[in-house]
Amino acid sequence: MKIFVTRRIPEKGLDLLRKYHDIQVNPENRVLEKYEIIKGLKGMDGLVCLLTDTIDKEIIESESKLKMIANYAVGYNNIDVESATSQGIPVSNTPGVLTDATSEMAWALLFAVARRIVESDQFTRDGHFNGWDPMLLHGLDIKGKTLGVIGAGRIGTAFALKSKGFAMNVLYTDEERNQVLEEELQAEKVSLETLLQDSDFISIHVPLNDLTYHLIGEKEFQMMKKDAVLVNTSRGPVVDEQALIQVLKEKRIFGAGLDVYEHEPSVPDELINLDNVVLQPHSASATVNSRTDMAIMAAKNMIAGLKGEIPPNCVNPEIFDKK
Ligand code: DGY
Repeated sequence: MKIFVTRRIPEKGLDLLRKYHDIQVNPENRVLEKYEIIKGLKGMDGLVCLLTDTIDKEIIESESKLKMIANYAVGYNNIDVESATSQGIPVSNTPGVLTDATSEMAWALLFAVARRIVESDQFTRDGHFNGWDPMLLHGLDIKGKTLGVIGAGRIGTAFALKSKGFAMNVLYTDEERNQVLEEELQAEKVSLETLLQDSDFISIHVPLNDLTYHLIGEKEFQMMKKDAVLVNTSRGPVVDEQALIQVLKEKRIFGAGLDVYEHEPSVPDELINLDNVVLQPHSASATVNSRTDMAIMAAKNMIAGLKGEIPPNCVNPEIFDKK
């Protein structure tokens, strides 16, 4: 069968797909326009897409042969899953293989903000280091502080467990109780309000959907401590970016660490010009192993889906009940 891949992904995944099928990979290293995806999808049985591709109803319905959509990401808010489901098309994602990489990036951002790493690096490179200075670049302590984890799924749990060496008091929000966090860390499930009011470090690990859009806005910032640190490695629109910019400008929290932005790939100049925010280019899962494993997982999902089997990481398995 024929598969369209919207952008080059690590070779191991492409090789696996080539073993079973004909593949067409977008030869250009850029995000395709909608019309280009529709064109590329013509006559294809499978689509491997990225979180940067908005796969809407029009695209899904543009090719009647389309049988399977494999997203190269754990988050799948870029795909109109409802439309795929109504067409009987399975959609898959890549959970698990990027859990550690993403949670490690959340910690990297937390440390970078708390200890002012990027600012200090720039200070040193700029030749301002004139010897040890008792008043230079004071940051925040981490050990023994309260860690607030918004969303205790796979990545939120891995992030929280990595706090073990820092003897932190862990609070979390989630729909479900998280036994692992409660047993291993004596973590407490609390309301979002309590978490925002009591946490020194807050890290977001929820998927983007109607319930989480602008979950953190002006009202929520008002609840945070004056020296709170906010880390977001989930999806940009979970945080009201304009509200965050205002809060950072007015130094109403200590700082923020961001891997994601509300209108990617745009990063507002206002954020770029601030010292109290550390910025990453949506690269939390960008380790050699994670990105390779994501490619292999997307390929395995595609191969299973094209065989008519339930892909191992299907996000709409209900379509198989009707088949
Ligand atoms: C994902 O897989 O959803 C991540 O955001 C990729 O970095």
